Amino acid sequence: KKTLKDIDVKGKKVIVRVDYNVPLDAGLNITNDKRIVATLPTINYLLQQNAAVILIAHLGRPKGKAVDSMSLKPVAPKLAELLGKPVKFVGKDVISAEAKKAAADLKSGEILLLENLRFHPEEEGKNAAGEKDKAALDAFAKELASLGEVFVQDAFGTVHRAHASTAGIVKYVKDAAAGFLVEKELKFLGEALDKPVKPFVAILGGAKVSDKINVIENLLNKVDAIIIGGAMAYTFLKSQGIGTGTSLVEDDKLDLAKELLKKAADKKVNFLLPVDHVVADKVDFVNKAVPAGAKVEITSDASIPAGFMGVDAGPKSIEKFGEVVKSAKTIVWNGPLGIFEIPEFAKGTVEIAKLAAEATDKGAISVVGGGDSVSAVKKAGVDKRITHISTGGGASLEFLEGKELPGIAALPEK
Ligand code: 3PG
Repeated sequence: KKTLKDIDVKGKKVIVRVDYNVPLDAGLNITNDKRIVATLPTINYLLQQNAAVILIAHLGRPKGKAVDSMSLKPVAPKLAELLGKPVKFVGKDVISAEAKKAAADLKSGEILLLENLRFHPEEEGKNAAGEKDKAALDAFAKELASLGEVFVQDAFGTVHRAHASTAGIVKYVKDAAAGFLVEKELKFLGEALDKPVKPFVAILGGAKVSDKINVIENLLNKVDAIIIGGAMAYTFLKSQGIGTGTSLVEDDKLDLAKELLKKAADKKVNFLLPVDHVVADKVDFVNKAVPAGAKVEITSDASIPAGFMGVDAGPKSIEKFGEVVKSAKTIVWNGPLGIFEIPEFAKGTVEIAKLAAEATDKGAISVVGGGDSVSAVKKAGVDKRITHISTGGGASLEFLEGKELPGIAALPEK
């Protein structure tokens, strides 16, 4: 695929799709600017090339309607602060007369951020009545394309969506390319999957097996070991007839879990499940806390007693996982190993983060994706020691599944 340096952007009006889907607090302050920071290399390069930079993005899931709390307005001052340059913002919709005029008037070296693309149902391929409508998507994509001359895709977190601004727009611009962030994400994720230095270890956590079936299937063809943590592990354990108490289990996925374990054995992939657990008889999921009077224990083996639920990997599991992680040369990690939002149950996740960092210090390549594992790496204070932290949640998962990403597929070949 073409990347930024393959196309002529000098003095041009460049439309850049970025992923500024950032978390906001109740006062609409940005609580994590990582995704904004990640776009600075592309924006700075374009400014050096005297381009006029038109940024298009989405925030949240407003479902085709303008929603004040999902305006991109708070992003403009944040981006200006990070760039050390003014950023214009048009609070009217992205293809309004005001937005078009601002784009037309934008000069070389200036930056314009437009309003949330998803205030238009057409962005996601729907018409005003909310029905699927490819023609509506195309018409909207064409309008977006008319804002500038060339298109740069730098919204890695959104390339798994086949939307007007991610895929549709490409055919209506003179030229298009992947931005530096997309290029970097594809390099690290791609190299890990396609030519991993062995041993290659995948660590998968999170609540549901169903979210990660395709990832596991795809990785079984590539890795030497898979470590399974989080509630997902309880479904695998139950499929082996091991007691799981009141743990979160997907009972309709037990056969599938069995099948995946068999496939792993056939392929001689070392499939590691927890051998002990931190368990609790009560968890306050709403306030993310251990309720007063709750019993928290460590099991002596993989089975969880009646009346208790698994909440984290136990010490023997961490040790066993650690041995595999320590000797890894390529590590891909997605999803926490316990209810890590509750500090008492964060140990397994934080320890794995530290072990991944140690392996990286000794030369391993580590790639972490997915919002929760990214926060875990931060929480463990090792984010600077990880080779690559993806800005994509769903996008990095779909990449690990081996799926085609529409926002990448649409870009022209070199
Ligand atoms: C994300 O946060 O994963 C991306 O911005 C995509 O958002 P979406 O899941 O609402 O499409």
